[in-house]
Amino acid sequence: MAKYQILIADDSRMMRSVIKGYLEGLDSEFTEACDGAMAYELACSKPFDLIITDVEMPNKNGFELCQDLKKHAATRSIPILIISSFDSEQDIHTGFQAGAAAYISKDEVKEQLVPKVESILSKAFFNVSKQILIVDDSALIRQLLKTELSKEGYKIATAKNGRDGLFKIRAKRPDLIISDIDMPEMNGFQFCGAVNSDPAMKTIPFIVMSSNADRGHMQRMLQRGAQAYLVKPFNIDQLIILIDKLLSHQFVMLLKERERLDAERHMMLASITSLVNALEARDPYTRGHSTAVARIASGMAALAGASQEECQTILIGGQLHDIGKIGIRDEILLKPERLSDAEYELIKQHPVIGTDILSPIESLRQIIPIVQFHHERFDGKGYPKGLKGTDIPLWARIISVADTFHALTSNRPYRRGVRHDNALRVIREVKGRQLCPDCVDLFMDWIHSDAAGGLDLDNPVPHPAHLPPASVPELPPVNA
Ligand SMILES: [Fe+2]
Repeated sequence: MAKYQILIADDSRMMRSVIKGYLEGLDSEFTEACDGAMAYELACSKPFDLIITDVEMPNKNGFELCQDLKKHAATRSIPILIISSFDSEQDIHTGFQAGAAAYISKDEVKEQLVPKVESILSKAFFNVSKQILIVDDSALIRQLLKTELSKEGYKIATAKNGRDGLFKIRAKRPDLIISDIDMPEMNGFQFCGAVNSDPAMKTIPFIVMSSNADRGHMQRMLQRGAQAYLVKPFNIDQLIILIDKLLSHQFVMLLKERERLDAERHMMLASITSLVNALEARDPYTRGHSTAVARIASGMAALAGASQEECQTILIGGQLHDIGKIGIRDEILLKPERLSDAEYELIKQHPVIGTDILSPIESLRQIIPIVQFHHERFDGKGYPKGLKGTDIPLWARIISVADTFHALTSNRPYRRGVRHDNALRVIREVKGRQLCPDCVDLFMDWIHSDAAGGLDLDNPVPHPAHLPPASVPELPPVNA
């Protein structure tokens, strides 16, 4: 079933087709109405996520359709987008007065329709998922507000005083609080003060309602952090407009924050790619190693049920796990012969050097354990700290398996990589000693899954003919 149900009301069949054509990439199912009355009947008979309407139509024009839909409880919360060739300021004003969420001139459909529809649908989804906590000692007021606000699509929780309200907030954080002032046990002043002194709650918008119209009360509540004040009795429409405004402001702020984080992540990933390229440009034998390790490890994490955010962390960690090799001299890092013990001790510094390089970057804090501990061994004989078993952070244990597999199957200056099936045999042999047994099992599951597509297990990796073949006993250190 399509994600969105969209009703298109226009007396021109061609215009309805044009609108559908522009929106075909939106995972939507379209219903068409050729006049306003038919659109109204359809909207009352099944739920829609959006109504797109013309203004000039027979039977009921677009403005009248808007007004009627907004009067009806079942259709009031459906967002309406007006598309019209009547695009004077007065027409647009009339459209918004009638309840439209957006207004586009027919001349601007090509450029504006898709972004406007996407914005309306994401906002509507945002409102529907919002939770409001109503705190009042009057059961009648609680019930009345709950009934009216539920009709707007909000999820409602209620509490009978401030203390009960704090309990409810700790159980499930609401997106907005509406509170009375005069209540037993904990009144509105105390409740608002408690909410605003707790860093986890203080960003929740707080509306105060009271029958006391005293200006002093209002000032006291605003000083305690309330955003708005309503004097009882108030019109429910006033409250809905206020809630919409507070949540809409939040919505805009959230969108801006998401945009900022996306831009920051984009820049960070570009910087990481440059860093990894700089590292791998020095050594043709390890070119592509970090990307391959990152791909294997994030695939394993996804298979284990890690969240998208965790998979992203392990992907970046995989890309950067060997970044400390930037601090190792060329004559050691690129030495074609086997390393002496002293040289190997220097190579072993790379997890610590990598940690020092990344520590100042706040947004990469979560991947530091991966960089720092990817050479620890399950039996405690690894480096740099000799951590043992599950004391080694999980992501580092996963990277260690991926790193081992890719290091075994890759060419080195002094040897060719082994066949995939031999690498799997080595990994099974070191399971529980060098590598975490659970992570090896996870790796085996991953490599035999569709997600590992592209790794041909039956054929050896292509090797330059001049290199000697590797025999498994030659391989230690397995994942240096
Ligand atoms: Fe390493």
